[in-house]
Amino acid sequence: MSAGALASVESLMSARIGLRLDPGLRGRLLHALEEEAAAAGLSVDSFVDALVHDPQMFQRLLNRVTVQQTSFFRDPEVFAALATHVVPRLAEPVQVWCAGCSHGQEAYSVAMLLAESGLQDWVVLGTDLSTRALDRARQGVYSDAEIESMAGERARNHLRRCGAGWEIEPDLRRHVQFRHHNLGRATIPVSASSCQLILCRNVLIYFSAVELARVLARFATAMQPDGYLVLGVSESLWQLTDRFRMHRIGDAFMYRLPSIHAAPDRRREHRDAPVERRRRETLGQLLGQGETAAAAGDFAVAAAAFRRATFIEPDHPLPYFQLALCLEQARQHDGAREALEAAQAALSRGDRARFQADLDGFHVDELATAIERRLSMRC
Ligand SMILES: C[S@@+](CC[C@H](N)C(=O)[O-])C[C@H]1O[C@@H](n2cnc3c(N)ncnc32)[C@H](O)[C@@H]1O
Repeated sequence: MSAGALASVESLMSARIGLRLDPGLRGRLLHALEEEAAAAGLSVDSFVDALVHDPQMFQRLLNRVTVQQTSFFRDPEVFAALATHVVPRLAEPVQVWCAGCSHGQEAYSVAMLLAESGLQDWVVLGTDLSTRALDRARQGVYSDAEIESMAGERARNHLRRCGAGWEIEPDLRRHVQFRHHNLGRATIPVSASSCQLILCRNVLIYFSAVELARVLARFATAMQPDGYLVLGVSESLWQLTDRFRMHRIGDAFMYRLPSIHAAPDRRREHRDAPVERRRRETLGQLLGQGETAAAAGDFAVAAAAFRRATFIEPDHPLPYFQLALCLEQARQHDGAREALEAAQAALSRGDRARFQADLDGFHVDELATAIERRLSMRC
């Protein structure tokens, strides 16, 4: 396969679905391209040329490249938080959107919580890019291994035997719909301001930062003002958008629109000793200079400001983290990794409550998650 053909299929993926190919996905893509081209009796280069004009061929490729890993009640602490803190606050009629629902387990898990809460008027919409995944989701039939993560009583209430497997009870299934939808497209599959809960877990990791900001803007449009957005446990919106604010809810983190986010408590600042106030001003000035330069795309100037901030505040994680973001943009990967490790070390040895005051509305746990996520992406 020629380098030009690979570049053109990658840019097609990026333009049509916002997909950013990491080495794992690129490997899947190459493998799928070879097999699909052979099945069509074409060379890989000719197959790539044909992809541009043949939506079905492109869809078949997407079905193979996308990753469908999922399970019922994946990350149980998230579902516990939903059951205890979110579902009881929902007002009928309830619209939930599971974006990137894969084989349907996530949508049906939320549906089980809603059914168990006694709510009557509710709909869960599961959407996905993969038509193959949606076929399975609509079938709603799962193997013994696939229902293992579900408590016995729940399985008894919501599933019934179907051959060698289990199917979702019709009473539950009639509340759950599935629809093809590409998160990389400008449209949303629900009415504006209709969703009280949106789940988009383990999907956004594949999006570029620019595309991610667009997707989040669409979620903000789809969401009711007091709604909840749930991401994957290793995903964080740190530094990506000011459209949402993170909230700790039970043992999980969720995002809400800023209008319901309480104004930061400034009283503590007034009680600060003058030295502490001066420290924060100096740190704040350098961070401000760095952020302004980074926003203008001048990452060298931004990195210099953040580096100066690390000299005056060597035990503070934020300047290291900001420095790492700049170095990532400048493709200085080793430096970025070192800065992330320094941020992590500073966070673990320091006083989190003190750092919180400098985080401008973000939560210190979100900083920790963002550092971890970026480090794990570099392993
Ligand atoms: C790893 S699964 C996550 C499933 C489920 N949300 C969970 O956390 O268990 C990711 C899903 O996102 C879907 N996906 C990837 N890119 C998408 C896009 N641009 N629009 C909609 N769905 C997408 C994939 O097809 C896949 O089914």
